[in-house]
Amino acid sequence: MCGVVGYIGKNDAVPILINGLSKLEYRGYDSAGVAVFDEEQKKINLCKTKGRIQNLQDKLYMSPLKGKVGIGHTRWATHGVPSDRNAHPHFSDDSKIAVVHNGIIENYMSLKEELEEKGYNFISETDTETVAHLIDYYYKSGMDILDAVFKVLERIEGSYALGILCRDFPDRIIATRKDSPLVVGIGKNENFIASDMPAILNYTRDVYLIDDNEVAVLTADSIKILNSDKDEVEKKIFKVDWDIEAAEKSGYDHFMLKEIHEQPKVVRDNLNSRLTDEGVVLDNICLGKAELEKINRIYIVACGTAYYAGLVGKYLIERVVRIPVNSEFASEFRYKEPLIDDKTLMIVVSQSGETADTIAAMRLAKEKGARTFGIVNAVGSSIAREADDVLYTLAGPEIAVASTKAFTAQVVSMYLITCHIALELGKMTKDEFLKIKEHMELLPSLVNSILTKEPALKRFMHKYIGSKNVFYIGRGLDYVVSMEGSLKLKEIAYLHSEPYAAGELKHGPIALIEESTLVIGIVTQEELFDKTVSNIRECKARGAKVLAIAMEGNTEILKYADDVFYIPRTYWMLTPLLANIPQQLFAYYMALGLGNDVDKPRNLAKSVTVE
Ligand code: M6R
Repeated sequence: MCGVVGYIGKNDAVPILINGLSKLEYRGYDSAGVAVFDEEQKKINLCKTKGRIQNLQDKLYMSPLKGKVGIGHTRWATHGVPSDRNAHPHFSDDSKIAVVHNGIIENYMSLKEELEEKGYNFISETDTETVAHLIDYYYKSGMDILDAVFKVLERIEGSYALGILCRDFPDRIIATRKDSPLVVGIGKNENFIASDMPAILNYTRDVYLIDDNEVAVLTADSIKILNSDKDEVEKKIFKVDWDIEAAEKSGYDHFMLKEIHEQPKVVRDNLNSRLTDEGVVLDNICLGKAELEKINRIYIVACGTAYYAGLVGKYLIERVVRIPVNSEFASEFRYKEPLIDDKTLMIVVSQSGETADTIAAMRLAKEKGARTFGIVNAVGSSIAREADDVLYTLAGPEIAVASTKAFTAQVVSMYLITCHIALELGKMTKDEFLKIKEHMELLPSLVNSILTKEPALKRFMHKYIGSKNVFYIGRGLDYVVSMEGSLKLKEIAYLHSEPYAAGELKHGPIALIEESTLVIGIVTQEELFDKTVSNIRECKARGAKVLAIAMEGNTEILKYADDVFYIPRTYWMLTPLLANIPQQLFAYYMALGLGNDVDKPRNLAKSVTVE
């Protein structure tokens, strides 16, 4: 969840580290810091602070650091409150070793006790400081610095991406990872480390994707990567092909708004090469009739928004293909002793491809013989590399913490997979497919037409900003959409909201409905309309205000709702994608109206790399 960056070369390290950190701030933003090797003073200097990168810049302005080798960090607190003391980098006792870390050292308590007994003083409450002291301990007991790092890797448990400096070796950065992302950027007379590519894209597009347990040793003009046996490994250069523009705001006030507006293109990109008159082409994935017939159980596993996209898949596959699909939270999956064998297809959905729980669930399924299929946005991420098959969601980098375009792309993947499986297994005729295809091809322009009605959502914000509680209700696919809408509002507007299966309201939660309650009723599934409307009326009767999301032409709803947002008419299975767009904009404007930081909501981080 934290961001790690490092630079070694001929240029001033601080501006490069700050630039990198600003691109990684979406990963965590409660404190930040840099450590830079000063050649004249022959020591590593540190500057760190609670708060955003701007606070760090202000501090550096007052007391500049100079040097051409450095590491930096932006933090999402796990051990210890956000504070100057707990901010990274962390030093060993006599400032010989400096460490930045993303992840969690699970056995840090016992290591800390051991080190305290040896006389080490701990300044912070973090797990990371243990790593700095432990390296120092082994190094001072006579080991070579690299051996000391390898020794520490044997001792620590948990997840980590580490950037390490040692005062005695001012010409190198050591970096390593396990279950936390790390790339090494290859420059000309300069090299980089980073948790994610945007941090170094201004300088290079050539990277090495570091695998678990590998250790990279960087100098200004060399990169050596060693495996856990300390043997040098030959790695392929990975070329980043997306534009740095994609990770910029491009004139929008917020990344979230920009990403919402990118959705017509995202949908088009996902459909273009994959929809043919013959069927669906799932890139290079070989999941034809023969393979599918061997499968007797499908799991779709993910977290948060990606889980809701997976739920759309479950509803569709079950309804269209008529086979059971279990949709599970990745964070719960492992504790249910899931039934998995070699006839299981496990679909994992993840924007970042680095979500710790999703990775763990996927690994468990793999271990038990399942075929794993990743629906992933971040190219080269852990899930993309480890899953048997990958379907990329082609949304480009998503920077805002609240996921929007990635969800839309994941839902498109669910449409494609459903059609593909149904066609292969003879559960959908060619004519039916061609009809759906025609509707799918219209999606980019339909999304566009919703975006032109953005001012209406701003108006609704002004009208409903005083709501104390918000219920999102719907049935069937509308219920799934309501879950995503409610999550978005909680996440960025910090408003209490709950998604509820409309029919379940009267079994308890209706007791919470009062005049200050806003009910967002999603009624795009026409065969369920009358039933959901009854539930909407029950809420109205108890004083709630109702904002409905309905398909164009449905005038009936005007009788029961205070306001209606119409989405264009489409085929029933495509409504989740469209109905969600106004929800995104509503959450966006509510967050703005409440004065919140839309792109960096409190307590959250974009990529949840801890369990
Ligand atoms: O990177 P992933 O798709 O695996 O992330 C899963 C969730 O953490 C993520 O969708 C989260 O719920 C978003 N912030 C929601 O907007």
